[in-house]
Amino acid sequence: MSRTPKKAPKSPSGQEGKQFAAAASRPDPRLLDAEKFLLPTYKRQPVVMSHGRGAYVFDSQGKKYLDFLGGIAVNALGHAHPRVVKVIRREAARAIHLSNLYHHAFQGPLGRKLAKWSGMDRVFFANSGTETIDGAMKLARLLGRKPEDPIGTPAKKHRFLALQNSFHGRTLGAISVTATEKYRLPFAPVVPGVEFVRFNDAADLEAKFDDTFCAILVETIQGEGGIYPISAAFWNRARALATEHGALLIADEIQCGLGRTGRYFAYQKFASKPDIVLVAKPLAGGLPLGAILTTDAVASRVSPGMHGTTFGGGPLACAVALEFLSVVEDEKLLENVRERGEELRDGLSKLASQFDFIREIRGEGLMLGIELSVEGAPFVAEAMERGLLINCTHDFTLRLLPPFIITRAQVREFLKLFEIVLAKTPRQAPAADSGKSGVPQGAAAAARG
Ligand SMILES: Cc1ncc(COP(=O)(O)O)c(C=O)c1O
Repeated sequence: MSRTPKKAPKSPSGQEGKQFAAAASRPDPRLLDAEKFLLPTYKRQPVVMSHGRGAYVFDSQGKKYLDFLGGIAVNALGHAHPRVVKVIRREAARAIHLSNLYHHAFQGPLGRKLAKWSGMDRVFFANSGTETIDGAMKLARLLGRKPEDPIGTPAKKHRFLALQNSFHGRTLGAISVTATEKYRLPFAPVVPGVEFVRFNDAADLEAKFDDTFCAILVETIQGEGGIYPISAAFWNRARALATEHGALLIADEIQCGLGRTGRYFAYQKFASKPDIVLVAKPLAGGLPLGAILTTDAVASRVSPGMHGTTFGGGPLACAVALEFLSVVEDEKLLENVRERGEELRDGLSKLASQFDFIREIRGEGLMLGIELSVEGAPFVAEAMERGLLINCTHDFTLRLLPPFIITRAQVREFLKLFEIVLAKTPRQAPAADSGKSGVPQGAAAAARG
């Protein structure tokens, strides 16, 4: 199993390291440029990352980090995986972009493979997760429209159900079904008619569902919301009610899909399937690619011109995606995700008995959340200081999304480092308004139950 390339790739970092060591006292001009010229949408750490290799990332000063964030669930094969690098080199020299006006060698076979993994029938390729959400919302609107609904006026069945504490992306459609207010309210009015259901609350779902809804959107495991898995009871009820009311069940597996839970898709632990599955993050080894996977019944309502994209499904991204799926199969990575996930969880449980500010460990496979009773941000900073990349969602939950190729030794390395981080980080009591973090009342309890 070739988990990491043996030799470090030739990278500018050695040279950069020397330059920057020499100029350590001067501010990094690239940080100054970023500060002056970029839209301030991110609170970035003041480091310039240089390159990665396997499960490690290096900054421009040559500092090495164990990457347990994986580019927020993107780098499932780590960095510079030899098979990904080989395909990129080969295909970049052939055709990076053609056009969706023509066929190329990879879209069809990639569609076939994704259909096999998911149990769906048809695929549309987009460029990002949020774009697949908007595309799925359009499909749901299309399916909700009856012949008697006059074109140009809202169909009776046009509304969306989504979950409290959800996150579905940043486009206008996606923020409309994103419960977290700070992402949605500054941009009002958003798509009207969205109703939010209490997380994992089948009774609330039952009470709210009616024939005006064309779809219910569900993250099978809520990611940005703090790693909350949907319960089987809620999923089953959502499936049954969607069928009863002629609505679509849309599974957002952008963060939790394509192997992260140790199954191809997180919903495969349930007995029933959704009508639409959305994937993106790890699909093309770090190149931007998303996909809407759906059924023949949905596809039968689609005709040319209804939806499209310039870049989506280009030859380079699709060739790499095919390679990604093959590597997951060839290297038996689902097994690795399950086994390393168990080891990680066991280690975290031991730490939880040692550190009383760990409230709960949630998640599946290599998608784990560690909920603290104190602010999480100082732990992320301390981890970075000590050469470990993690992040924090919803103020209190530390999130781990390591690559599928992680080894047993790297899990041990993580646990050792993380124990030091937990012991050394100065703890901050929750801010007075922390109750407004957006986690719905009862979500944690419901998830636990
Ligand atoms: C569950 C979920 N849905 C949608 C998105 C949006 O994906 P993208 O950032 O690729 O647009 C994300 C991104 O974090 C996500 O985690």
